[in-house]
Amino acid sequence: MLAVSYEGPNRVTVTRKPDPEIQHPYDAIVRVTRTAICGSDLHLLHGLIADTRVGCTFGHEFCGVVEEVGPGVRTLAPGDRVVVPFNISCGVCFFCQRGLYANCANTNISSDLASGVYGYSHTTGGFEGGQAEYVRVPFADVGPLKIPDDMDDEEVLFLSDIFPTGYQGAEMAGIRGGDTVVVFGAGPVGLFAMTSAWLLGAERVIAVDHLDYRLEFARRYAKVETVNFADSDDIVMDLRDWTDGRGPDCVIDAVGMEAEGSKLQRVLGRMKLQAGATTALTWTIQTVRKGGTVSIVGVYGPPFNLLPIGTAMNKGLTLRMNQCNVRRYMPHLLEHIRKGHVNAKGIITHRLPLTEAPRAYDLFAKKKDDCIKCVLVPHTTH
Ligand SMILES: NC(=O)c1ccc[n+]([C@@H]2O[C@H](COP(=O)([O-])OP(=O)(O)OC[C@H]3O[C@@H](n4cnc5c(N)ncnc54)[C@H](O)[C@@H]3O)[C@@H](O)[C@H]2O)c1
Ligand SMILES: [Zn+2]
Ligand SMILES: [Zn+2]
Repeated sequence: MLAVSYEGPNRVTVTRKPDPEIQHPYDAIVRVTRTAICGSDLHLLHGLIADTRVGCTFGHEFCGVVEEVGPGVRTLAPGDRVVVPFNISCGVCFFCQRGLYANCANTNISSDLASGVYGYSHTTGGFEGGQAEYVRVPFADVGPLKIPDDMDDEEVLFLSDIFPTGYQGAEMAGIRGGDTVVVFGAGPVGLFAMTSAWLLGAERVIAVDHLDYRLEFARRYAKVETVNFADSDDIVMDLRDWTDGRGPDCVIDAVGMEAEGSKLQRVLGRMKLQAGATTALTWTIQTVRKGGTVSIVGVYGPPFNLLPIGTAMNKGLTLRMNQCNVRRYMPHLLEHIRKGHVNAKGIITHRLPLTEAPRAYDLFAKKKDDCIKCVLVPHTTH
């Protein structure tokens, strides 16, 4: 089969690999019909995630058709269309029972922090990813959601990650009716966090980024107010001024470890004194009002310097964060899409054949051609 293969920092290729096979009774093999590139893949691409091995297949956002199931699989059969969460979860451990699918104890032999994740380095278990023609799906009764016949792949594709992630970001922000919410990052995750903030009762939603085309997209797609931090001498003070002088009630970090906006942070990141930059996270803590909530869905890995934990402590903040527990949100968010509350596929700006994955990575990583979200289509799709 063809698969997107990591060849070292800033380089992916599309190569031929053996088709995946059933390895455990609870495995399924899925023929991928649509797969997407995520901001998280960029952290891998840029060499910021430990133990990302040359030759591994990227991709944790995908949907497709079940080709084959292991003898233990009860709920899926060949021919079923499924969308698959990025977390690989056993469904029965202490954490899975509490809905913490992202922290499953049984699917990641490399670490006891997070669950296994498709195509996300050996620090999340070394599973092959879904930017490929076929993928092995472990614990197939737990994660995959069957796609209703009346919905197309692209309508549901983002239930695999970014819609639930944005929603969990808004949920962790503890939004109450009448609240003002600031979302740092107007990428795909930020857009779904904004959309979800409205669903959860926000009165005002403000997006912050430095890319005008993304802010313009956010105004149109998510009906939010926007501010370009590159136009501001002090984004924290400006945001406070615009929110009654107090600061917003809730702030969501949908940027993660590759934030722009601080030369010092970037330099420390480049010198490998920390894994990237915590600029956005620092701004969330400084911007939110006293007693407010910071919700972190942007991804961070190893420890960082310069994080103003004293500011968070003395302001009495609530900090919430996690990888998304995708499976928990899928049925509910499917209904929002089906009822037309959310046009999930409306964020797709680029569709390319899987064979053009290197070009798609380039477009998305360098934010070229007004790219918001790239979807890859394998040739085996019919
Ligand atoms: N928690 C989870 O489960 C989960 C799931 C998916 C993605 N993520 C993470 O969410 C983050 C965003 O993903 P994405 O796909 O939207 O990525 P993206 O790269 O498309 O978007 C990030 C956006 O942040 C903007 N930005 C950079 N510095 C900023 C700053 N200081 N302030 C405000 N905006 C800034 C960029 O211009 C860009 O538009 C990534 O870190 C990704 O790894 C987390
Ligand atoms: Zn993702
Ligand atoms: Zn588990």
